[in-house]
Amino acid sequence: MNQLGMFADKPTLENGRARLRPFTPADIEAMGPILADPEVLRLTGSVHTSEEANASPPRLDPATRQWYETRADQSDRLDLAIVDPATDSCVGEAVLNDLDAANGSCNFRILIGDAGRDRGIGSAAIRLLRDHAFGTTGLNRIELEVYAFNPRARHVYERCGFIFEGLRRSAHKFDGEYIDAIMMSMLRSDWESAKSPD
Ligand SMILES: CC(C)(COP(=O)(O)OP(=O)(O)OC[C@H]1O[C@@H](n2cnc3c(N)ncnc32)[C@H](O)[C@@H]1OP(=O)(O)O)[C@@H](O)C(=O)NCCC(=O)NCCS
Repeated sequence: MNQLGMFADKPTLENGRARLRPFTPADIEAMGPILADPEVLRLTGSVHTSEEANASPPRLDPATRQWYETRADQSDRLDLAIVDPATDSCVGEAVLNDLDAANGSCNFRILIGDAGRDRGIGSAAIRLLRDHAFGTTGLNRIELEVYAFNPRARHVYERCGFIFEGLRRSAHKFDGEYIDAIMMSMLRSDWESAKSPD
């Protein structure tokens, strides 16, 4: 397998609770308010103060819009819209990025806006992307970071099979407080031995 082209295939993945697909123009439009959601901004470490979290405009700037328009052309990363199958509307995104082809490793990240959270969509999306990655590519390791002030995300990652690896202590500062970053990963062997670790 050409490791660098590992993510050239841009699939649509679906289970009962979530659909993942390459961004459509409507999905890109929907990302404006999602990326401006104060909780998304805070929990992803995109801002350092509540003031910043509450001040982001709900429209994509031209550079960010172009970013989404070009995701389907990237063979070294996989960016998919998370869609609520009940409404066919985009509620967030799930991403495999920072591919280290020589080591068969990449990073995972996910964000869901206010309308999509706490309805099982995030857990379903993670399972879909996890199974696609280990089931159809040669990937051996998926890693991620979650801030200690985000117990919901940690709970969901653990439920989907990610394992605690360690801490980057006080890696992030928010509203004057230092926050640990929790490192987690899942190996192909974890996935194979559990197959359905949910
Ligand atoms: C993290 C995220 C992807 C989870 O997706 P989701 O669709 O909201 O999560 P689900 O509905 O699948 O599951 C939520 C689970 O967390 C639990 N939960 C909710 N709040 C919690 C809290 N404060 N502490 C612990 N668990 C919590 C729920 O009870 C549920 O677990 P259960 O099914 O065992 O009861 C989503 O909430 C999100 O994108 N949040 C904002 C951005 C973010 O945090 N991104 C991740 C950065 S590392």
